[in-house]
Amino acid sequence: MHASLLLVSALSAASVWAAPTFPKVSLDTSKSVDIISQYFNLLASKVQQSKAVGAAPICDLSKVSLPAEAAGLPPPSPGFYLKHVAIGRGTQNYTCDLSNSTAIPVASGAVATLFNASCISATYPDLLQMTTHVALQFDLSESETINRLAPTNLAISGHHFFTNPTTPFFNMDASPQWQLGEIPTAKDASIPAPKNALKGQKGEPAVAWLKLSAKPGATGGLQEVYRLETVGGSPPATCQGQPASFEIQYSTQYWFYAS
Ligand SMILES: *[C@@H]1O[C@H](CO)[C@@H](O)[C@H](O)[C@H]1NC(C)=O
Ligand SMILES: *[C@@H]1O[C@H](CO)[C@@H](O)[C@H](O)[C@H]1NC(C)=O
Ligand SMILES: *[C@@H]1O[C@H](CO)[C@@H](O)[C@H](O)[C@H]1NC(C)=O
Repeated sequence: MHASLLLVSALSAASVWAAPTFPKVSLDTSKSVDIISQYFNLLASKVQQSKAVGAAPICDLSKVSLPAEAAGLPPPSPGFYLKHVAIGRGTQNYTCDLSNSTAIPVASGAVATLFNASCISATYPDLLQMTTHVALQFDLSESETINRLAPTNLAISGHHFFTNPTTPFFNMDASPQWQLGEIPTAKDASIPAPKNALKGQKGEPAVAWLKLSAKPGATGGLQEVYRLETVGGSPPATCQGQPASFEIQYSTQYWFYAS
């Protein structure tokens, strides 16, 4: 396939599905529209570039390294290699103790669908970041309808959930095409998201960047997972006016290192 065609079919559902099925924007705000138009402008410029080059993009993860802002987290352990990069789209869950008028929200896990972004991370890191931003402008139900990350054509590669309150789990065997393994993890290190991180659908600050390490039972050689380039996901400062449990929408990147 020609390089530019490959890029468009990988990144734009609009090119594959007719206009009426184009996913519905979750929040029709000018900020949302701005992010979506930035995304499509960047995508268009990449298509122009790849037309000029004429060769299909190479999806080689061996030269991809963590973004500079991740320097505050410990680096991947020596000998581990980058096996997969996914965009995660889902919710961070929280609970509130309604019997306590000064309670603050407590994290109670997360649920997200992961989409294969290995190729974009290897070819266009700026487009990877913009894709993470645009992902939060659409409801996950829109992605479920097309089985792709709306408004892109990125395929599902995994599922993220908690198996107990302290075990973030990743099932990366979700696609018949890429059996990448499973990994139960523990939090290793955390840094606040950069000051300029994009806020969530209702202005929520971005959740922290993390390094997670495998607990016993991981498969596929999976060893370490980074959560980077977070968008939204943080709870309100207090439980004032909140229900006993609630969800905050987020998107992010998960980077998987393996041995
Ligand atoms: C999907 O993930 C696998 C493993 O990281 C990678 O080899 C492949 O190139 C990815 N495909 C796309 C379209 O990103
Ligand atoms: C109410 O919540 C605050 C904030 O988390 C906490 O410091 C305090 O101990 C809680 N009070 C009770 C009675 O649980
Ligand atoms: C988080 O919310 C999702 C969606 O409602 C729900 O399916 C899941 O069970 C919740 N997870 C936790 C750990 O509360």
